Amino acid sequence: MTHKAELYRDLAAQLAALIDGEPDRVANAANMAALIYHGLPDLNWAGFYFAQEGGELVLGPFQGQPACVRIAWGQGVCGAAASRGETVLVPDVHDFPGHIACDANSRSELVVPLIEDGRVTGVLDLDSPRLARFDAEDQAGCERLVGVFLGG
Ligand code: SME
Repeated sequence: MTHKAELYRDLAAQLAALIDGEPDRVANAANMAALIYHGLPDLNWAGFYFAQEGGELVLGPFQGQPACVRIAWGQGVCGAAASRGETVLVPDVHDFPGHIACDANSRSELVVPLIEDGRVTGVLDLDSPRLARFDAEDQAGCERLVGVFLGG
């Protein structure tokens, strides 16, 4: 198993223990954001946007610099992941038309949608100051973490 795969396996186990028996979504999201931010190297932001009635994403628990509060469905990397219902991995945010620069230091980004009963209820967003910080292992690892968060 690669070092990265082991790291995500450990994070998934820690996340499962942190949220075990706790139904409060905000509390669990806050702990998950902290776990990811401090557990993965080279991040400058890790957190959630939750879908609101009327099709807008609103800032949820996170770690990092203060961020944009509302993102329209389909806008930016977060809105793209939400509207497509699939993970969006951006090696260089300067190459992503419409990228929303909350922190000018961000160079790469990974956004995983939260999908429940076939509906997108939010996204997990990770930002890095390092170009091409995220790869397929990070995508698989973060999708697994989201699965644990959603109770899968
Ligand atoms: N860059 C994101 C916006 C959220 S911040 O990075 C925290 C985007 O383009 O959707």
